[in-house]
Amino acid sequence: MTLESRQNMSLEEMDQHSLIHPFTNLKDYSSGKLGGPRIVTGGSGIRIQDQHGNQLIDAFAGLYCVNIGYGRTEVAEAIAEQAHKLAYYHAYAMNSNEPAIRLSHRLVNMAPGGMARVYFGLSGSDANETQVKLVWFYNNVLGRPEKKKIISRHRGYHGGSVMSGSLTGLPVYHTAFDLPVKGVLHTSTPHHYWHATEGEDERAFSKRCAAELEEMILAEGPDTVAAFIGEPVLGTGGIIPPPEGYWDEIQAVLQKYDILLIADEVVCGFGRIGTPFGCDRYGIKPDLITVAKGLTSAYQPLSGAIVGEKVWKVLEQASDSIGPFSHGYTYSAHPVGAAAALANLDVIERDDLTGNAERVGGYLNQRLAETFGDHPIVGEVRGVGMLAAVEFVADPARKTRFDPSMKVGARLSAAVLAEGVIARAMPHGDILGFAPPLVMTREEVDEIVEKVGRGVAKVTDELVSEGAIKV
Ligand SMILES: Cc1ncc(COP(=O)(O)O)c(C=O)c1O
Repeated sequence: MTLESRQNMSLEEMDQHSLIHPFTNLKDYSSGKLGGPRIVTGGSGIRIQDQHGNQLIDAFAGLYCVNIGYGRTEVAEAIAEQAHKLAYYHAYAMNSNEPAIRLSHRLVNMAPGGMARVYFGLSGSDANETQVKLVWFYNNVLGRPEKKKIISRHRGYHGGSVMSGSLTGLPVYHTAFDLPVKGVLHTSTPHHYWHATEGEDERAFSKRCAAELEEMILAEGPDTVAAFIGEPVLGTGGIIPPPEGYWDEIQAVLQKYDILLIADEVVCGFGRIGTPFGCDRYGIKPDLITVAKGLTSAYQPLSGAIVGEKVWKVLEQASDSIGPFSHGYTYSAHPVGAAAALANLDVIERDDLTGNAERVGGYLNQRLAETFGDHPIVGEVRGVGMLAAVEFVADPARKTRFDPSMKVGARLSAAVLAEGVIARAMPHGDILGFAPPLVMTREEVDEIVEKVGRGVAKVTDELVSEGAIKV
């Protein structure tokens, strides 16, 4: 490509020839086969606007992160004010800043289960990376150098970096990246719809999941297993609320073998499932909590590894033998990120968005269940709070999936988009995911369900005429 042709490019062409997009076919995109990018130019409430002036309902809140909705000037103003006052200073060697101090104090007080300290990063991935380092450090200090393995779950999602991508239990995140790394194990997915045996109720299924976890721990040797990481509700793996009794059963096994529990609250935290944290809803008592996304509603990048008293005491004790805590990022405890988080948490509390997630999220789940529960290609409608999923199957009676090459999930998401609604085709199975901003109203739920209904009807008709299904 010549310098001249580079200089005369449109914004769309510049994007195609300079930016690497996550989860995009690089070749087809660069060659123009996929068309140009959607350039998002603005947003308000649950809607975004593109470069052509089209309005779209964002029923996935970006990547389930814009919890307070788009265009909240109070957060933008808090960011600007802090940037004017102090845009940056690092937190190494006892340096601090007021927003980070106020935010860590607030998080320690609001987090469930006796939390002691917060370590700030920028993304959910780096916070989970920090958690693993903390767990390894903890066991080294306790003189248990063999106790290092981390157990995650198939279809768990914990990020895309080397360690967090290894914890993620979705093959698409591993292929050709040499992941997962050694010392990461994946136990069963607690999805009753697909994995329960004939007649097995949710409680019995949860017991079996816990028994499988225990078997894995015993096979590996309990002295080699350091921690278990899980999202209170499985997110990117398909939006799967836990079956009844699941977390009680799992926690009993972890306690028996002195295994730490990391609750990955990156999606569930800050009101999304109708409680302040996912742990609050399911009686989870974690040793460590990972937060990001809803912490700032993505107005600034910020994450946190929240450390419970039990782990903190050991980290503190290590100072005598190891010296200073040698883990740090340039942007740890960034003042502008922290200012955004404080303003965002004010909005969530003042407007009772957690309560709204429970009430209006409940309505969303009810409407989806009424509309799609008996649909000829729907296997399951599930969700909790402002999280919902509709899973499509070729034959609900026999529980058979569509052939993945038919890309039914992607076609459904495209058809729904054509109606003006962004719902996410989840990466595993034919699942439409919904995780709207927590500010959504009942009227907006009705609008979304009606538009999704039209998109689903269109794809269903196509599948019938292709002979893929009989209705
Ligand atoms: C539960 C969970 N953990 C961690 C992450 C990783 O966060 P990030 O994309 O900010 O690195 C995500 C992102 O979707 C997530 O859903």
